[in-house]
Amino acid sequence: MPAVVVIGSQWGDEGKGKITDFLAERADMVIRYQGGNNAGHTVVVGDKEFKLHLIPSGILYPGTTCVIGNGVVVNPEVVIKELDYLEKEGINTDNLRISHRAHLIMPYHIRMDELEEERKGPNKIGTTRKGIGPAYMDKVSRVGIRMIDLLDEDEFAVLLKRNLQEKNKVFEQIYGVKGFEFKEVFEQYRNYAAKIKKYITDTSVNIHEFLSQQKNVLFEGAQGTLLDNDHGTYPYVTSSHPIAGAACLGAGVGPTEIGKVIGIMKAYTTRVGEGPFPTELLGAEGDLIRTQGNEFGTTTGRPRRCGWLDLVVLRYAARVNGLDYLAITKLDVLDQLEKIQVCTAYEYQGKILQEFPASLKVLAQCKPIYEEFQGWMTDTTDISEYSDLPQQARTYIETVSEMINVKPALIAVGPKRSQTIITEQIF
Ligand code: IMP
Repeated sequence: MPAVVVIGSQWGDEGKGKITDFLAERADMVIRYQGGNNAGHTVVVGDKEFKLHLIPSGILYPGTTCVIGNGVVVNPEVVIKELDYLEKEGINTDNLRISHRAHLIMPYHIRMDELEEERKGPNKIGTTRKGIGPAYMDKVSRVGIRMIDLLDEDEFAVLLKRNLQEKNKVFEQIYGVKGFEFKEVFEQYRNYAAKIKKYITDTSVNIHEFLSQQKNVLFEGAQGTLLDNDHGTYPYVTSSHPIAGAACLGAGVGPTEIGKVIGIMKAYTTRVGEGPFPTELLGAEGDLIRTQGNEFGTTTGRPRRCGWLDLVVLRYAARVNGLDYLAITKLDVLDQLEKIQVCTAYEYQGKILQEFPASLKVLAQCKPIYEEFQGWMTDTTDISEYSDLPQQARTYIETVSEMINVKPALIAVGPKRSQTIITEQIF
């Protein structure tokens, strides 16, 4: 059974947690392949809401093996907190595996993230300040510390000492702040190691085992296409690769193992952090969507910027991810709107743009060209069959999927597992 990759097709927060959780019911393995605890997944099981940042939401199913792949940057403190939280909720966490090649987020990464954001002032990226960027910087600069090093106390001590010598110089001489004490960080991480070592392993081997046994394997992307370091709205992006292609890199499998790619598309658009957003709604309509959709960050609590659906973005996401299917989320958030706009192209200096521009200067000046749809003004939250959706809602879904040339497979009309309409079977 070839693997399935689920990715965010907009700026993140599309509801990947809910869709992954829904698909995880039939998955034998769920893998995270990039990002870190900058992500936030909310999953509702019965009347209970679970919020996870790092551990794949598949952990909520007792038979599902969950992997934190080599492409993820891991803050061990967060892993331990999530493990404790899940265990308190009666969830068995024995099925978690963490790649021995995954890089560690260290306290100096978090401090550096904060200091850099402060230094940039009005030009800040609006990061989650979880140390993600600095951890990936160290990885690429070949001074990162990996899980495998955490398991070897002597090696860990050498690497930490070397890094602190360099980092502390920067903290003290460039930023004028105190650096970190070796002993303190070493002891802290030694304690973390004792708690998480049983989960650390060669996850690429585990994944291959599952794939060769024809098991259902699901890759769960974090963030979204437009936050991709290569393909997103650079520099207002994250430091990893949320697109589907990165699943191979961040998990240790070849592209021939991937069978289907599903793009999660929220029925409108949101964005957190800075950077241009052509369909942003700054007035009452934006506020209504924010309230109806509870659009506040799971990780930072920040209100999300809200706007209409943007098909320029989605056509781009369909192309760079090779989307086979859409999973449309939060359709119900539009239930009360009389009219719904969808951006089909941009106007830039009198010209029509069909393709998403690379230049942020251009993007910031793009004016959306809208097509208006009739709202359905009906509560859809109890609907479980596609044919029971109001005609206007079906028109919205069908027109949008035709315009981006990707079929819908799932439609979410609420946060619960039961509030999911299936139009194509994935597993
Ligand atoms: P970082 O990933 O913390 O470095 O933040 C870089 C950018 O990505 C900022 O605009 C963040 O708001 C955004 N970002 C990071 N993680 C998420 C996410 O899970 N959802 C939405 N935006 C995110």
